[in-house]
Amino acid sequence: MVNEGSNRYIHEPVLLEEVVEYLKPSDGDGGGECVMIDATTGEGGHAEAFLSRFPEMYLYCVDVDPGQLDRARARLEPFAGRVEFFNLWFGSFFKECRSRAIRPPDRILFDLGLSLRHYEESGRGFSFRKDEPLDMRLDPSRPVSARDIVNTWPEPKLAGLLETCGEERYARRIAKAIAIARRDKPVETTGELEKIIWSAVPAEYRRRAIHPATRTFQALRIETNRELDQLKEGLEGGFAALKPRGRMGVISFHSLEDRIVKLFFGEKNKPCTCPPELPMCQCKGKKELELLVKKPLVPGRAETQRNPRARSAKLRVVEKCV
Ligand SMILES: C[S@@+](CC[C@H](N)C(=O)[O-])C[C@H]1O[C@@H](n2cnc3c(N)ncnc32)[C@H](O)[C@@H]1O
Repeated sequence: MVNEGSNRYIHEPVLLEEVVEYLKPSDGDGGGECVMIDATTGEGGHAEAFLSRFPEMYLYCVDVDPGQLDRARARLEPFAGRVEFFNLWFGSFFKECRSRAIRPPDRILFDLGLSLRHYEESGRGFSFRKDEPLDMRLDPSRPVSARDIVNTWPEPKLAGLLETCGEERYARRIAKAIAIARRDKPVETTGELEKIIWSAVPAEYRRRAIHPATRTFQALRIETNRELDQLKEGLEGGFAALKPRGRMGVISFHSLEDRIVKLFFGEKNKPCTCPPELPMCQCKGKKELELLVKKPLVPGRAETQRNPRARSAKLRVVEKCV
């Protein structure tokens, strides 16, 4: 059963002051309305900061998890009239922008991944520290859960997933252990899976600071929710929708996400896309965006001490060229 927990807000918005600083309405906007899309609204922490600090802001709030969006709706009630909610994958939201008459945004925020509530209270098996059904779906109506992947994928395909989406060095051993375990009975819970992984890896791997199940759980979550494809679709769609001089900020939490963001921005930041062997530029290309931070911003000590989950966060911000 899915236990969605209480209605208090437990997720602390990451890099909040940095996000506000880069995505606040600019002085040059002439005091007009500033439209923002919060593509990953969660419990609405970032959204609340923007709406409360900047009366000229109008927010479109997107989240694929209906429970999260309900909580954000309740939290953002005082700003009714300046905020709309969309229970969609952000990739789909950007595809449907035009047909839904969404105004072109001046600001877009992606705060990727999961909210603390997913780990602590969703009951959907995102954490190996709790024994819960192996589900991991952000959108509970999606047909495939982590349980299906673990119990039906052929062993080599499972190993490939742990290698590519978990960067797990013991991917093959873990996949083999899962394949053996499921011959007797399907793997149903996070506790069962954690034990299988624990026994599959060498003893020295168990003594490391990172729990040996971390990477396997990450890989399963990414696959269950098609997170990397979603991110590519979201960046493409969001950037296409953004107004000239509009800004986009992306907070990523692991290297696979950050690599996609960095490459996407890097490609659009190139003035010329001609092959290097051409003696002169023929594409007459011009940059599509400026990088507002050359190196990603990361949380300071005070933030990581207060909120250890912020440790791996990286914020990149760009501005679309005219
Ligand atoms: C890190 S939390 C956002 C926290 C939020 N900024 C706050 O301050 O409360 C990420 C949220 O994005 C949602 N999410 C993740 N991937 C998504 C996607 N592809 N499309 C829509 N929502 C997504 C999750 O359900 C989660 O609620």
